[in-house]
Amino acid sequence: MRSHSKPVLAIIGGTGPEGTGLAARFAEAGYSVIIGSRSAGRAQETVERLGAPGRDLKGMSNTDAALEADIILLTIPYAALGETLAGIERAVQGKIVVSAIAPVEFRDGRPVGIQPQAGSAAQEVALRLPGARVASAFQNVDAHLLASEEDLDTDVIVTSDDADARHAVMDLVSAFPGARSLSGGRLAASHYVEETTTLLVILNRIYKAHSGIRITGIRR
Ligand SMILES: NC(=O)c1ccc[n+]([C@@H]2O[C@H](COP(=O)([O-])OP(=O)(O)OC[C@H]3O[C@@H](n4cnc5c(N)ncnc54)[C@H](OP(=O)(O)O)[C@@H]3O)[C@@H](O)[C@H]2O)c1
Repeated sequence: MRSHSKPVLAIIGGTGPEGTGLAARFAEAGYSVIIGSRSAGRAQETVERLGAPGRDLKGMSNTDAALEADIILLTIPYAALGETLAGIERAVQGKIVVSAIAPVEFRDGRPVGIQPQAGSAAQEVALRLPGARVASAFQNVDAHLLASEEDLDTDVIVTSDDADARHAVMDLVSAFPGARSLSGGRLAASHYVEETTTLLVILNRIYKAHSGIRITGIRR
């Protein structure tokens, strides 16, 4: 944690739509955000695209971004997990790592959920990064909504086996106007959150929409 009270955030795979959407929202909320990429040049181009007065954004390689940050968010495709985590494993020891990964692939143009052997993408992250404090969140938040000017009007379910990490990530969610964080309990529950993304993508195709989730019956 740096001199100011907010943690520094790194977005690994931060050049894609989900990563840029989260980066822009967090920077707008006053966080220092580092965009990570396999190419530092591509990360820098993304920073230039997202830059706006008052936003503290930097671009670096994924490894350097993970080294510099306090909390690391993963916005890479599920298929890129092994290769990407091997490059940041040492940099994330003891740090909170948040998986926003939804394992979905398209077959004949149709979304199909993939079932990771570990149970979920987030549990696979935990297996591959034994020294990190792994949480999951944001899998149900559409990149188009993140990129819009609108308040998010969504619930974000946060899971982790580390209660302090879960609460820290729930605090991050509260940076987004309109978003409500809900604890989903342990990391094993990430499976249900990740699968819900496949349903949302199916709904988006049918209704030509950018859907999200709201859970009823919980007041907080
Ligand atoms: N898009 C959405 O609306 C949305 C919503 C909720 C959750 N998610 C989840 O968020 C994650 C990112 O989604 P996205 O749509 O932003 O994905 P994306 O554009 O396909 O990928 C994001 C970034 O990951 C890096 N990357 C791509 N392929 C890679 C590979 N084979 N190896 C290593 N790095 C690779 C690329 O960055 P560099 O080339 O710069 O390294 C890319 O810009 C996914 O897991 C997705 O399920 C997405």
